[in-house]
Amino acid sequence: MKIYHGSIVYSKGIKNLVEYKGSYIVVQDGIVEGIYETLPERYSNVEIIDFGRDVIIPAFTDLHTHAPQYPNRGLAMDEMLVNWLDKYTFPLEEKYKDESFASDVYDAFADDMIAHGTMHAVVFGTIHNKATDILIKAFEKRGIMSYVGKVNMDKNCPDYLLENTEESIDKTELFLQNHIDNKYSKPILTPRFAPTCSFELLTKLGKLMAKYKVGIQTHIVESLWEKEEAKKCFEGCRCDMQIYEDAGLLEYGPTIAAHFIYPSQEDIDILKKHNGIAVQCADATTNVIAGIMPTGLLLDDGVKIGVGSDLSAGQSLGIYSQIASAIRLSKIKSLYEKENRVISFAEAFYLGTKQGEVIFGKVGSFEKGYYFDALVIGGLEDKYQELKPVEVVERFCYAGETKNIKHKFLRGKEI
Ligand code: GUN
Ligand code: FE
Repeated sequence: MKIYHGSIVYSKGIKNLVEYKGSYIVVQDGIVEGIYETLPERYSNVEIIDFGRDVIIPAFTDLHTHAPQYPNRGLAMDEMLVNWLDKYTFPLEEKYKDESFASDVYDAFADDMIAHGTMHAVVFGTIHNKATDILIKAFEKRGIMSYVGKVNMDKNCPDYLLENTEESIDKTELFLQNHIDNKYSKPILTPRFAPTCSFELLTKLGKLMAKYKVGIQTHIVESLWEKEEAKKCFEGCRCDMQIYEDAGLLEYGPTIAAHFIYPSQEDIDILKKHNGIAVQCADATTNVIAGIMPTGLLLDDGVKIGVGSDLSAGQSLGIYSQIASAIRLSKIKSLYEKENRVISFAEAFYLGTKQGEVIFGKVGSFEKGYYFDALVIGGLEDKYQELKPVEVVERFCYAGETKNIKHKFLRGKEI
């Protein structure tokens, strides 16, 4: 048993961000037992670790990111999506045919993700099996809960990344078999997006989904170009989500729809019907000018939304800064489209923390029974005014850096 003293902030519900000043959090076997303003007598013999004025918050969940693109972070940010893919992203992804390159980058990526306070993630690899084996093992070894996918592409991409349909399916099945019994890092189907996948590929992936009962991650209505291209590529297609539903790719979860910027009502209805989750990758979608997710409208329509770094369209692995950017973008959206409301800090923080429970179970909160996957943040106050614990967390999301994360806990163990 461990007892930590400090200020504590976490989401109980989407509009319910709670704070405890100078309180105690009791952790038994890595799981939260309770939070107390005055420590009950029965704990009087347990050692207390005191974090003073620092604030204990849940670790973050990143629902969409690309590990292979790590070496390109912060580069080519003046390009639009299609050029960005062709000129910068695809050539980098080719390099993962080299296992030692993959091993180097994936260790650095996993360490940097943890340094940014993220302990649960849904991650794209590349088309390469061996490199993606290395990636999923990098997470498994660190005990990070994740879903990792080997990418599928059998059209509209450079020759050096193009797969033959059968070969793509066989390689995916092998990847699933190799990792289906992993403890923390599970495989997930990863057709890149509609423009680079044939319907034959998608339906065959649907058969693998049925056989292995795995989920799917992909990019959904991520740009105006992609939305129209998807309709052109698939005969009789009304919307992006319909393609995946028709291919039998929404039968098992998790269903992760990255971006979801231009959804039709049918896209929304299909996502909800299959208990899917849309991912707001705020900086990524403005960096490659894909657009702005209608976050307020979607939340009010009952769509589940998580937060993603989408590196390297996004420039950093800090989910905390994406929480701030999600609020900022909701303001710009509401300025131009009155039906889109501004989201609150409480809502945005929930999206980057507790919403992750839809995918990973009892994470992202400190209610009784949740994993103590936690960060202790500090160094954010100054002498000019005293901040409430929630204000410390807000400042961290807007102006914080990795140096403000003073301690990290994964299932109760300090890492
Ligand atoms: N659409 C297809 N591939 C990608 C990718 O790698 N990143 C982003 N942001 N969008 C994509
Ligand atoms: Fe992406």
